[in-house]
Amino acid sequence: MSEPHWDDHADWWQREFTDGVDPEYVEQIIPLALEYLGGRRDVLDIGTGEGQVARAAAAGGSIVVGLDPTAAQIEVAATRGGGPSYVQATCDLLPILDRSFDAVIVCLVFEHVDAFEASLAEVARVLRPGGRLLFFLNHPLLQTPHSGMIIDHMIDPPETYWRIGPYLREAVTVEEVQKDVHVRFVHRPLGRYVNGLVDAGLQLVRMEEPAPPPGFIAKAGEYEHDVVQTTPRLLLLVAEKPTLRSGST
Ligand SMILES: C[S@@+](CC[C@H](N)C(=O)[O-])C[C@H]1O[C@@H](n2cnc3c(N)ncnc32)[C@H](O)[C@@H]1O
Repeated sequence: MSEPHWDDHADWWQREFTDGVDPEYVEQIIPLALEYLGGRRDVLDIGTGEGQVARAAAAGGSIVVGLDPTAAQIEVAATRGGGPSYVQATCDLLPILDRSFDAVIVCLVFEHVDAFEASLAEVARVLRPGGRLLFFLNHPLLQTPHSGMIIDHMIDPPETYWRIGPYLREAVTVEEVQKDVHVRFVHRPLGRYVNGLVDAGLQLVRMEEPAPPPGFIAKAGEYEHDVVQTTPRLLLLVAEKPTLRSGST
């Protein structure tokens, strides 16, 4: 299923999060992607946006295809160049042959997508045996609706903490992330994602939930500082498609 609203705020995404302006991408997401790609050759970047992760993979020597349903994203991706080729499509029906990629990247996409199980089945289908999925998410704890930074001034000195909303309750929310920019999020507990990988026949090989990087922490104010350092914002699940046993097809 496509998310047509992304056409309305692709420019917000490109301005605020790409082209080197976001320390979480520069210092954390892109380095993690390159580390876990490990030089794999044929790479598919699903929900590629304007292509920042795809370009980094191509600069690392991979042959990269970026896929996204949003014209306003892939048009900019094509303009920014850097090696990848692009296709306009949604993640639940990939116009791609079986077993054609050594790695698939899905970076901050499935938390906007309803059909994530069907999409994981598609990932498993297009991976070669032994191929690897790099699955980045806004950490579901952080993204639970009604979560947020609380500064309790009833206590001296004021206590600052991250309040977690109803984590186990799955919910669709539309958040105004900036004035007049409304982004649709699907909240699911972590178990849904891990079980989705298992049901798609993928084997979890690594999970990373890093502290925010220095460039992000530097922006936190005095009170928020410690909470920001100890609240995970990013989750990376690395999973692999099992290799074929002899005699199987
Ligand atoms: C938060 S942006 C992330 C872009 C890119 N992966 C990155 O990390 O820079 C989410 C992207 O998901 C794409 N998207 C939304 N629905 C999708 C779907 N059903 N299939 C594939 N991509 C989708 C949007 O068009 C948007 O470009």
